[in-house]
Amino acid sequence: MGIAESGALNGRVAIITGAATGIGRASALLFARAGARVALADARAPELARTVEDVRAAGGEVESVGADLARPEACAAVVASAVRAFGRLDVVLNNAAVGTMVVGGTVETIGLDLWNLAQDVNVRAIYLVSRAAVPHMRAAGGAIVNIASVSAFRGSVERPSHAYAASKGAVLSLTRAMAASYGRDRIRVNAICPGTIRTRLSADIVDRVEDATKAGRGIPLGRIGEPEDIARCALFLASDDASFISGAHIVADGGAMAAAG
Ligand SMILES: NC(=O)c1ccc[n+]([C@@H]2O[C@H](COP(=O)([O-])OP(=O)(O)OC[C@H]3O[C@@H](n4cnc5c(N)ncnc54)[C@H](O)[C@@H]3O)[C@@H](O)[C@H]2O)c1
Repeated sequence: MGIAESGALNGRVAIITGAATGIGRASALLFARAGARVALADARAPELARTVEDVRAAGGEVESVGADLARPEACAAVVASAVRAFGRLDVVLNNAAVGTMVVGGTVETIGLDLWNLAQDVNVRAIYLVSRAAVPHMRAAGGAIVNIASVSAFRGSVERPSHAYAASKGAVLSLTRAMAASYGRDRIRVNAICPGTIRTRLSADIVDRVEDATKAGRGIPLGRIGEPEDIARCALFLASDDASFISGAHIVADGGAMAAAG
C-alpha cells in the first residue's frame, strides 16, 4: 500500500498551481486519492477543467481557479479562492512554471520580457502565493513544496536556458530561507528538483534523453521520469511522513546528476 492509499492527507486542504497538465495534474489526482481536498490553479482553463473532472470522477473534492500567475493579483486570488471554498489551508504545492521552450537562451539571446516572465512565474509567484497562504497555515502548521529543477545546479551546452536556471536557483534559496523563518509556525518548506520528466515542458528533449539512455549514456535508472514519480515525492514532503524535514530538496532524476561528468 502506498502513502496515498493510507490517507496521508485526510482532512487537509492543498493548493496546487500549474495543475492543468504534467506534474501538477498528477499531483492533483494523487493528493485527492490521499484524502486532500484540492484547490487547483492554472492559466490554461480548458486543460485545467479536464484535471478537475478527473479528480471528481475519482471521488475527490476539488475547486479550481483560472489564474495567470504572472499577474500579482492572481496569486493572492488563488489562495483566497481555496480558503473560501474549504475554510482552511494546510499544503501548497508551488508547481507552475514556464520552461526552456519559452524562456530558453543565454543572457545574450534572451529578451528582457522573457527573462522577466521566467522570474515572475517561476519565482515571484511562489513569493506571492506563499505570502497570501502562510497566514492561513499558521493555525495548524502545514507544508509548502516548491518545484525547482536540476537546472538549479547545472547549465546545458546543448540547450542553454539562463533565465530558467536562475529562476530555479532562486526557488531553492527561497525554500531554505522560508524554512528557517516558518519552522516556529510548524510550516515545513521543501523543494523537489526533477530531472527529465515526460511532460509538455520537456517535449523538445525527451527523444534525445531517451536515445542517450538507451545507448547507456543517459539516465542510470534506464528511463525518463513520469509525472507520477514527482507527484509521489511531493505527497511525501506534504505528508506527516516528512515531519522532521524542512529546508531540504530532493533530486528526483533517475540518478542522472550522480552520473554526470
Ligand atoms: N518536465 C521536466 O522535465 C521538468 C524538469 C525539471 C523541473 N520541472 C518543473 O516541473 C514543474 C511542472 O512542469 P511540468 O513538467 O509538469 O510541465 P507542464 O507544462 O505540464 O506544467 C506546468 C504548468 O504550469 C502552468 N503555467 C505556466 N505558466 C503559468 C502562468 N503564468 N500562470 C499559471 N499557470 C502557468 C502551465 O499551464 C502548466 O499547466 C515546473 O515547475 C517545471 O519547471 C519539469
